[in-house]
Amino acid sequence: MDSFISWIGGKKLLRKAITERFPESESYDRYIEVFGGAGWVLFSKDLHAKCEVFNDIDSNLVNLYRCLKYHREALEKELQYTVHSREVFMNCKQQLNMSGLTDIQRAARYFTLIRSSFGSDRQSFKTATSCIVDKIGDFPKVQERLKRVVIENKDFEDLIKVYDRPNALFYLDPPYHTTEKYYNCDFGEKDHIRLRDCLKQIKGKFILSYNNDEFIKNLYKEYNIEEISRNNNLSINRGTGREFKELIIRNY
Ligand SMILES: C[S@@+](CC[C@H](N)C(=O)[O-])C[C@H]1O[C@@H](n2cnc3c(N)ncnc32)[C@H](O)[C@@H]1O
Repeated sequence: MDSFISWIGGKKLLRKAITERFPESESYDRYIEVFGGAGWVLFSKDLHAKCEVFNDIDSNLVNLYRCLKYHREALEKELQYTVHSREVFMNCKQQLNMSGLTDIQRAARYFTLIRSSFGSDRQSFKTATSCIVDKIGDFPKVQERLKRVVIENKDFEDLIKVYDRPNALFYLDPPYHTTEKYYNCDFGEKDHIRLRDCLKQIKGKFILSYNNDEFIKNLYKEYNIEEISRNNNLSINRGTGREFKELIIRNY
């Protein structure tokens, strides 16, 4: 199935290439999506493993996933009369910076921001028509898919330490080198190095997607690195039809 949101750097176009490169399914029984975002790889299969984990550091995003999983009907109700308009967009943006919202109200505001922003950047209003309530129809399937998925809100290093086992498969899709500013997080060069150092220590398997960048290739030079291409879906390059070269890096 598809994800219920679009997301900057979302792996809609790359999900097949990634899952085709997963190891033999008998070799792992826990699947951990460390940089979750819209979860395109998670949603691309009905089940990756008996134990599945979705994680992201963006607490509003994780709250949206949790509300969909545990309070779907209340979230639907909260969203049912939401219209696509600049005023609603600005209100949601302002309200998300204040305290006092319930988790369900917060989830609805964040969903509205994602749906009504240009390239899902949650910053700039999308002038093209977007129907927010239309998407609510997908929620029951999403809730069903998330039923057995553990949802975490941790920094990648803490998460990897908790879930690492010889029978674990980590899929990692960090902010791409030099495009980190598009996310609600402070991810820099030191974090790319921290991630590499953390992956060096693990007992399980990892598969990592990155932009094709010399700094990254050098960081992972001792691993299995493949270069692949797809159309760029970063909002800044939308409509240019430019091909974007990416890396898939594995420790198996
Ligand atoms: C490239 S996006 C992931 C896209 C996702 N694979 C998809 O298909 O939509 C990177 C994600 O990493 C998250 N992130 C940034 N810093 C993080 C950290 N230190 N630990 C965990 N997640 C982080 C961001 O919030 C963002 O959602």
